[in-house]
Amino acid sequence: MSDRILDITLTVNGEPVAERVEARKTLVDFLRDDLALTGSHVGCEHGVCGACTVRVDGEIVRGCLMLAAQCDGATVETIEGLSDSGEIADLQLAFEQRNALQCGYCTPGILATAQDLLKQGGVPDRATIREHLSGNYCRCTGYHAIVDAIESVAQARAGKR
Ligand code: FES
Ligand code: FES
Repeated sequence: MSDRILDITLTVNGEPVAERVEARKTLVDFLRDDLALTGSHVGCEHGVCGACTVRVDGEIVRGCLMLAAQCDGATVETIEGLSDSGEIADLQLAFEQRNALQCGYCTPGILATAQDLLKQGGVPDRATIREHLSGNYCRCTGYHAIVDAIESVAQARAGKR
C-alpha cells in the first residue's frame, strides 16, 4: 500500500484547511486525528454502519469509504459544523426531547442523514424516513424514537405543528 504524502487544501466547517496527509488516510481518520473533529465516529470501517457520515460538497458520504486526498478542493461539513451553524438545532432538540439517543455513538451520523432527508423539503412519511436511515445502525434505541423525532421536525418545518 502507498505511503505517499499529499498536500491537500479544503474547507472544513467554513474554515480553510491546508494539510499533509498520507494518500491512504480515510476522511474520517483525517477529521478525527488531524483536525480533532471527533464528532464523526468510526464503527465498522467498511461502509455499513453510518457512524462516520459527513457532508462533502453538500452530499452525505461515508467518511470511512472516502480518502482525505479525494477531498482536495472540497467543502466538508461535520456534525460540529452542522451543530455550530444552528442548521440542525431543531433536530437536536427533538432527539433530546424524544429520547432518540442513548449511548449517542450513532447520533452524529443519524443527524447528518436525517438533515439530508429533511432539506429536500416536504414531510416524508415514516417509511421514507426509515428507508433514508437504512444505512445508519443504532444498537440502542430500536429506531422508533428516532423516526418520531425526525417526523416531528419535518412537520414543524412544514408549519404543520
Ligand atoms: S465507520 Fe463508516 S460506515 Fe461504519
Ligand atoms: S444511541 Fe447507541 S448506537 Fe444509537
